[in-house]
Amino acid sequence: MKDKIVLVTGASSGMGKATCIEIAKLGAKVIMVCRDKQRGIEALEEVKQQSNNPSVELMLCDLGSIKEIKEFTKEFKKRFEKLDILINNAGVILPGKHRTKDGLELQFGVNHLGHFFLTKELLDLIKKSPTGRIINVASGAHKIGRIHFEDINLDKNYTLWRAYAQSKLANILFTYELARKLKGTNVTANCLHPGAVATNMGINRKTGFGTLITKTLKPFFQTPREGADTAIYLATSSDVQGITGKYFYKKKPIKSSMLSYNEHLAEKLWQFSEEIIEGISSRKS
Ligand SMILES: NC(=O)c1ccc[n+]([C@@H]2O[C@H](COP(=O)([O-])OP(=O)(O)OC[C@H]3O[C@@H](n4cnc5c(N)ncnc54)[C@H](OP(=O)(O)O)[C@@H]3O)[C@@H](O)[C@H]2O)c1
Repeated sequence: MKDKIVLVTGASSGMGKATCIEIAKLGAKVIMVCRDKQRGIEALEEVKQQSNNPSVELMLCDLGSIKEIKEFTKEFKKRFEKLDILINNAGVILPGKHRTKDGLELQFGVNHLGHFFLTKELLDLIKKSPTGRIINVASGAHKIGRIHFEDINLDKNYTLWRAYAQSKLANILFTYELARKLKGTNVTANCLHPGAVATNMGINRKTGFGTLITKTLKPFFQTPREGADTAIYLATSSDVQGITGKYFYKKKPIKSSMLSYNEHLAEKLWQFSEEIIEGISSRKS
């Protein structure tokens, strides 16, 4: 991994941080993308210390903001000539109904749309890698998901699980469509379910809600390091060289939901996502 440049989103916590530590241990240059400066600096120090690799950097970006993603990718392209591995790991499931900086339902806006746009903006750079890999951290929760095109923010019928499941189904539809669009290139795109992992997922920092549930479940859940296993495998193993358009669990390709294989739905989501981004961009310019 010595000459590889690896970008990990959601690197301040949980599986993202664990992924950075393990990949940095293998000698890669790791770019940790975080939204909060203080948490980012603390995580950066931990990753450098635990990996013994000084070649780890922090860059800031809120994936709930198209403007910030544009600024971030512009800066990234100025500094790096290629990107070998993009790990779209950041994710949110937050009790209560919240909006991104752009006014979208939080889970859809961050988990899907932010990563969709980030990936598209970085694609040219990934194609410059001899073996580019894109890894999307999805979830088994996608199985109960639907894409509610007519009410994407779920204003009419919001539940947290409906929102999260929609965003995670979108991660898988996006991965499969991306793999189809990348056919014939040197870039692969795969996604994964990490299993149940004791992280900061579902905890509301402001109110502390969710902390007790997480503490109670901790003994039954995987550690962040264990949960990160499949993402690390997809990023680093020669076993998966050239494998694309698959959904992995415990380092093995498995079947995702029937709906996730619907190519018409995937193409529709792609166009719909582009239209939302155009709308946000034109509103702001
Ligand atoms: N934990 C599980 O059991 C489980 C199961 C299935 C799938 N997953 C998936 O695994 C991935 C990693 O989650 P985790 O369990 O490790 O949770 P976590 O500890 O809460 O980490 C989530 C990361 O995403 C970042 N993030 C959240 N909103 C963001 C935004 N708007 N912009 C940029 N970064 C943002 C967080 O940053 P802050 O530190 O600033 O909040 C944090 O670094 C997620 O995609 C999740 O959906 C988790």
